[in-house]
Amino acid sequence: MLSVSSTRLQRRLVTLSTFGGLPGGGVTRPAWSPHYEEARAWLLAEMRNAGLATWVDPAGNTFGGLGTTRLAGDRPVILTGSHIDTVPEGGVLDGALGVIAGLECLEVLSETRTAPKNPLAVAAWTDEEGRYGSLFGSRAFCGKLDAAKVADMAAVDGERLVDVMARAGFDARQAPEARTPAGSVAAYVELHIEQGPRLEEAGVQIGVVEAIVGVRRSRIIFRGQADHAGTTPMERRRDAFLAAADYALRAREHVVTRGSRRSVTNVGVVHVHPGASNIVPGRAELVHEMRDPDAAVLARLAQECQALADTVARERQIAVEVVPLSATTPALAAPRVQSSIEDACRALGFTSQRMDSAAGHDAQNLAAITDMGMLFIPSKGGRSHRVDEMSDGDAIERGANVLLHTLLALARK
Ligand code: GLV
Ligand code: MN
Ligand code: MN
Repeated sequence: MLSVSSTRLQRRLVTLSTFGGLPGGGVTRPAWSPHYEEARAWLLAEMRNAGLATWVDPAGNTFGGLGTTRLAGDRPVILTGSHIDTVPEGGVLDGALGVIAGLECLEVLSETRTAPKNPLAVAAWTDEEGRYGSLFGSRAFCGKLDAAKVADMAAVDGERLVDVMARAGFDARQAPEARTPAGSVAAYVELHIEQGPRLEEAGVQIGVVEAIVGVRRSRIIFRGQADHAGTTPMERRRDAFLAAADYALRAREHVVTRGSRRSVTNVGVVHVHPGASNIVPGRAELVHEMRDPDAAVLARLAQECQALADTVARERQIAVEVVPLSATTPALAAPRVQSSIEDACRALGFTSQRMDSAAGHDAQNLAAITDMGMLFIPSKGGRSHRVDEMSDGDAIERGANVLLHTLLALARK
């Protein structure tokens, strides 16, 4: 039975982790940063060394192909992949695993001169982590990128997308042209770490994803009145930060009590203006995120949280503006891809269980254009989006071998 080289896979994961690697472990490699562009150049070279054809689309999505030099629709491709951007102070496996394991699978097929019926390709999707919106590259690839919005896209640090892409040699306005022709992808399957505790706690080796949550993000801007923090009587203050804090607590309570069993919420970005200890905050901005596998639940929660923001502002005599930032669509995995993953697990003697993904993934965009599936391996302690994110070497090898045999089964059908 064909199997991956665990040594080669681990070596590439270690090398990739050095681009933007942090002294105490973990990685900061946001999309389009110099470290990201160095990693992408390295990846292209590794793909070529592995015997793959390479190409990059106008959104920066980076591909390696076996038996194909492009995605054109004449010979539908079985596609795998993930992303090589990271969150700030993130781990070494989120995204990296799916790209490097996909490359490893294609290299094994190339070395052994295995010629499946369909061509295969591995993708590193641009900006999965949402420095600019959310799932940027796969959105462009699947024809969901709104061309009118590209010129205004800016990161929380203020850098504009058009500028960072220009620095890397791309024209952001052309990114929607990355849209792949209809019928060019026969199936998509992505290997990822679970990023939560369920597989480890259940003692199960492989997770077979049934559905991926939708994620909605909004910027909530409270505008009060900046004032002298010593001389302004307490009862006269219109403190924008206190409104933001009040909203954050009440929104959490609302989602926990009024959402579904699977709804979650987070406020991970807070800016207070002007940001001095001797000034009452005149403006406070939050980025509020909510997730649920049911699009209708998410839409209802978003509406209710908008009303909550208005209530908080009214009570505190402050103005508020809610600006929607991004909304990804929940997606279902295709039954035939789920069963191909389960067949591969059975053939390899690994245990598996079906589960939802509470993290967002590029796979949810691919579900709109092809049959999509994902498989997870356990994350140690359920830790992810932190520097000590890790999975066992054996678990990584198992995941890559299941990916290999799933790709083979899909490419033969
Ligand atoms: C992607 O990592 C997400 O935010 O779910
Ligand atoms: Mn992530
Ligand atoms: Mn990821």
